[in-house]
Amino acid sequence: MRLVSIDEVDIREKRVFIRVDFNVPVTKGGDILDDTRIRAVIPTIEYAIKERAKVIVASHLGRPMGKVNPRFSLEPVGRKLSEILDREIFFPEDCVGDAVKKLASDLLPGSVMLLENLRFHRGEEENDPRFAKRLASIADVYVNEAFSVSHRAHSSVVGILEFVQTVCVGFNFKKEIENLSRLLKDPPRPFVAIFGGRNASEKIPVMESLLDRVDTIVVGGAVANAFIKALGGEVGRSFFDPIALYSAMKLVSSADVRKVRLVLPEDVVLIKGDLNTYAYSFTGSVKTIPGDAMVVDIGPKTIEDFSSRVLKAKTVFWNGPLGIYEKGDFGRGTVRVAEAVAASGAFSVVTGWDTISALKRGGLSSGITHISMGGQASLEFLQGKKLPAIEALEKRFK
Ligand code: 3PG
Repeated sequence: MRLVSIDEVDIREKRVFIRVDFNVPVTKGGDILDDTRIRAVIPTIEYAIKERAKVIVASHLGRPMGKVNPRFSLEPVGRKLSEILDREIFFPEDCVGDAVKKLASDLLPGSVMLLENLRFHRGEEENDPRFAKRLASIADVYVNEAFSVSHRAHSSVVGILEFVQTVCVGFNFKKEIENLSRLLKDPPRPFVAIFGGRNASEKIPVMESLLDRVDTIVVGGAVANAFIKALGGEVGRSFFDPIALYSAMKLVSSADVRKVRLVLPEDVVLIKGDLNTYAYSFTGSVKTIPGDAMVVDIGPKTIEDFSSRVLKAKTVFWNGPLGIYEKGDFGRGTVRVAEAVAASGAFSVVTGWDTISALKRGGLSSGITHISMGGQASLEFLQGKKLPAIEALEKRFK
């Protein structure tokens, strides 16, 4: 698919509806805990401002289930957006209706309005054409800048495309598709994929679909625990995903058949007691994890092993931290391997919030070629699944 991007269409003085993903963590007091998703789409919004469009920004936040709920208001996000853009923005009480329609038409070219949460209406998640039409009625140009919502068949990313005259994508959307596609189409070899985090059932299908492209898969975090368990080992009191044991076993043999090296930790950092009360941590072999111990990070030998494989890579994909990075010292494995990714000079793509925040904490994001905001959408894209919002765009770009 050739994507038409915002700089290829005429947006001057037009009502430009930019669907973004401002689904960011907000505290009860209205503080934004992580503004990465907001900053990622600023170039598109600024471009539209510079081109003197009437800029209408739309997003969901959380899962308010089709009802107005002040807890999920986008107002705090609007304050942040205004601060980042360093300009006043309009914030109507709704995302559809006569008042919003009038405001959209009366906007001066080069000004910005952020609509209230799209999911305050049931029609959004139901992809109801009546709701999609109402959204479309305030747009001359539709811009999809919400790659991370591509796996949802919702009005603002699917239905609306039927009713707007001009359709295009934002700069970040384009970057997501280009970089994720590069992993699938002839990636430079050796290609090393790194998986960590907790949810093995979610990650194993992605590993499976990458088997034809990668040379090595290295596994840490609780995902590795599922493999250790599946291979008959013990992980003490560590978390592992019990549903994933069969698929983990299957993956071990499919990797073997396809000659992909599947590398598990050989040593790990362990604690006894729980994460808040443990007295000390120690290193041990994965073959002898005591029954009352918990794995909290990969060990020094494993760090060396993973890093040396990554250093030789020309392509790296990474999803999930290798230890409980948010606690004390247990981010060491993730940080050291991230340093190796940066030093390798490989084309590298990282996805998943916990991985992204681990990299940000370590100040290591700049060593990565592409930080994907996609989360679930990126994983499904890499599995070759058909994503409804991308299919809707394909139909329009044919
Ligand atoms: C995300 O955070 O992954 C997207 O914003 C989609 O949110 P959802 O899982 O609530 O649909």
